[in-house]
Amino acid sequence: MEIVAVIPQEGIMPLRITVIGTGYLGATHAACMAELGFEVLGLDADPKKVEQLSAGILPFHEPGLPELLREHTSSGRLRFTTSYEEAGAWGDVHFIAVGTPQKAGDHAADMTYVDNATLSLARCITKDALIVGKSTVPVGTARRLRELVAQVNPDVSIDLLWNPEFLREGFAVKDTLTPDRLVVGGGTPEAVAVLREVYASALASDTPFIVTDLETAELVKVAANAFLATKISFINAFAEVTEHVGGDIRTLADAIGLDKRIGRRFLNAGVGFGGGCLPKDIRALQARVSELGLDRTMRFLSEVDEINLRRRERVVHLATEILHELDGRKITVLGVAFKPNSDDVRDSPALDVAAQLFNAGADVSIYDPEAMNNARLRFPRLNYAESLDEALDGSHLTILLTEWQEFVQLKPSHLEHLVESKALIDGRNVLDHDEWIESGWHFESLGRRSELVLTEAGSGS
Ligand SMILES: NC(=O)c1ccc[n+]([C@@H]2O[C@H](COP(=O)([O-])OP(=O)(O)OC[C@H]3O[C@@H](n4cnc5c(N)ncnc54)[C@H](O)[C@@H]3O)[C@@H](O)[C@H]2O)c1
Repeated sequence: MEIVAVIPQEGIMPLRITVIGTGYLGATHAACMAELGFEVLGLDADPKKVEQLSAGILPFHEPGLPELLREHTSSGRLRFTTSYEEAGAWGDVHFIAVGTPQKAGDHAADMTYVDNATLSLARCITKDALIVGKSTVPVGTARRLRELVAQVNPDVSIDLLWNPEFLREGFAVKDTLTPDRLVVGGGTPEAVAVLREVYASALASDTPFIVTDLETAELVKVAANAFLATKISFINAFAEVTEHVGGDIRTLADAIGLDKRIGRRFLNAGVGFGGGCLPKDIRALQARVSELGLDRTMRFLSEVDEINLRRRERVVHLATEILHELDGRKITVLGVAFKPNSDDVRDSPALDVAAQLFNAGADVSIYDPEAMNNARLRFPRLNYAESLDEALDGSHLTILLTEWQEFVQLKPSHLEHLVESKALIDGRNVLDHDEWIESGWHFESLGRRSELVLTEAGSGS
């Protein structure tokens, strides 16, 4: 899609946009708004992050974003601050993009960040303005905040809308500049018209613009994530069956995926979903509907969550079966990011499996193209190799857990002279089973009957 930049008309001040919370979502949104031609001020409570972003340094990995950040911080169109006074006095449209993590010891979302950010901002707004929520929140949040905003600052007119974000890490710039759809909940017609101006570039390419109420806007986001999580756990439940009875989960997924009503995407059997969104969003949704008295409504999501977590146990179980015991055995884990093209290790299935293997006594060596620093911060006691070859050196078992392209392209010949034993678990179903078997490897993958079972039954290759 062509990006249509905002061209300021003579005598008309272009909208000034602030983005409150400049993590994955906020930093991307701020840089993309600047790319569209707006003057943008990002605000974060973390002064170190503000310092880095102001210097044009992106504190996380996201393809295409460093270039936008550098360009627009150098031109002065994109600035960062920690000051709510500055943001409240300067901005016309304020996007809320702070985190909504899972509460410690509870399934519900921790709303303190969204509440604090919105009210700190509202208190400092000195002219009529819009607050636009982008964070993923439990239904009812926006209506509650709208009342609180009016209470803390009755002196100016502040409208509050919800505009949930659907960007995917790894594709965040593209998804922000050319989204599949835009959803806007609440707000007067004038407020919605302002958002049309903000998103004029996407709207010029006929991006669907769905205007609805606050509750629907909040629910659209969690419904989308609940659906995607369910689809992944659905195929992984079938993987449990094919592991038991035989069969090929990839062919099964291809065959049902050809049905246009089902579709092939998100039907990749493997070690399951993770990251900073899907796991906490399905838990928060269940917690919220229970709070509303609808205890049974989203109960199936507990199963979705459990199937997902069982996939991690399956990998540990397979590793134990292959090595007989884990104590002192060297296991190479390929990938610790929760998905490729990201350095995010929040609730990463790969890092969880690596930690479980380590806790069971294995000597775990990790390699990931981008996520090593984040993983080291979360789990400092694992071995972090400098290179793929160093990670593989002397390995008794190799486990592929994040499908980075460089791992998908691996050939048996690359590993053979490095590893101690030719044993591999493909935790993402991305390698060619026959190729590895033909090269003499003990090859296991999720959704396939174990080679160990086949060998014991006398029918293995
Ligand atoms: N990461 C994604 O791919 C993605 C996609 C869609 C939606 N979301 C949603 O967006 C929200 C943000 O997610 P994220 O991944 O960017 O989180 P994040 O943890 O990367 O970023 C949150 C940022 O908010 C800042 N912050 C916290 N409290 C603040 C306050 N009171 N004032 C100013 N800044 C404050 C933090 O310092 C941090 O930089 C969440 O609700 C998430 O579910 C995320």
